[in-house]
Amino acid sequence: MVRDISDPSLLDQILDATYPVWGEGLSRQSYGSWNRALGMTAWGCEHVARVGFVEGDEVVVSARRYLFDAQADGRPIKVLGIGAVFTAEHRRGQRLAQRLIEAMIDEGRVRGCDVALLFSEIGADYYARLGFSVVERPRLTIEVPRNRRGAPAVLVRAAEPSDLPLLSEISMLYSGDTGFAIDRPASLLEFGVLRRRLLAGLGPSGLRSLEFFVAEEGYRAVAYVVVSRGPGGVVLEECGDRDPSGARVGAMLESLAERDPSQMDRTMRAVLPASFRPLQLEVIKSEPSPKVMMVRSISGVEPDYSRAVYWQTDVF
Ligand SMILES: CC(C)(COP(=O)(O)OP(=O)(O)OC[C@H]1O[C@@H](n2cnc3c(N)ncnc32)[C@H](O)[C@@H]1OP(=O)(O)O)[C@@H](O)C(=O)NCCC(=O)NCCS
Repeated sequence: MVRDISDPSLLDQILDATYPVWGEGLSRQSYGSWNRALGMTAWGCEHVARVGFVEGDEVVVSARRYLFDAQADGRPIKVLGIGAVFTAEHRRGQRLAQRLIEAMIDEGRVRGCDVALLFSEIGADYYARLGFSVVERPRLTIEVPRNRRGAPAVLVRAAEPSDLPLLSEISMLYSGDTGFAIDRPASLLEFGVLRRRLLAGLGPSGLRSLEFFVAEEGYRAVAYVVVSRGPGGVVLEECGDRDPSGARVGAMLESLAERDPSQMDRTMRAVLPASFRPLQLEVIKSEPSPKVMMVRSISGVEPDYSRAVYWQTDVF
């Protein structure tokens, strides 16, 4: 039976086993601190749990279970997210991961989940055999070309926790006219940003950094960007703009690039909603995302995923 794992020694066992795969360049101790800290955030407490099969005092297979809300063709649905699936090395090939995933889906059905969703790091084949299908979302490489007129006049400042409710509202603007969009309450935005900020803070100095800025008009946040820098380059993790053209996000990125050209790379990667293409940005490359979004219906609901909206910060 699938079991929620909260016992500290079992959790440590999972961290020991998964550290070589998902350690992200942290020390083993920092990897533990990172995981525990995320579990204590408002969103982490409410929406994420570690589950698995335990035999005796050994965790033979484990995964993270995420439970969250989304919109499917304008209708609210419940999503079971499956992440960090891991089978003890000496038990691989015995269908343990398959059994765990099926058990999580059965349990998700009882909880009223409509779809199961995961982001595969091992390509599509394994999960396709378990009935999941790929949702194609390209990863774009975008460039912020030099603005010959200099930095645009846009008031940019660091985001504060009190901005989050407004930014969540802005983020939800993209869920309106779309087949599938993850709901983005303030607590989820906070979780996504904290996850990266903690990773930067706990890791070797200078390896990673995160910037989270808002643009203001009349003392109100009207647009925002979250940009990370790390071994994989610069990533526009997420952004949002009250202006549907995305003009303020484009201006913010231009202004940040001008602020410190040595620091802020003009080329970055992003997964953007199909309708969101600020004029100031040039798409120079489009390729399949390395983490493949895959879905399987649980309740029979089949959203139109062709216009799915999610951000890099939502990827688990
Ligand atoms: C991927 C993983 C969870 C599979 O666990 P498992 O319990 O051995 O899986 P199952 O027994 O259910 O399935 C085994 C089958 O999957 C195949 N498989 C294993 N890893 C695979 C991969 N990376 N890509 C495609 N197929 C894979 C095996 O070859 C085997 O195929 P067979 O049935 O033809 O012999 C395990 O290899 C693991 O923990 N890997 C490290 C962590 C990881 O990468 N997790 C996935 C994150 S998205």
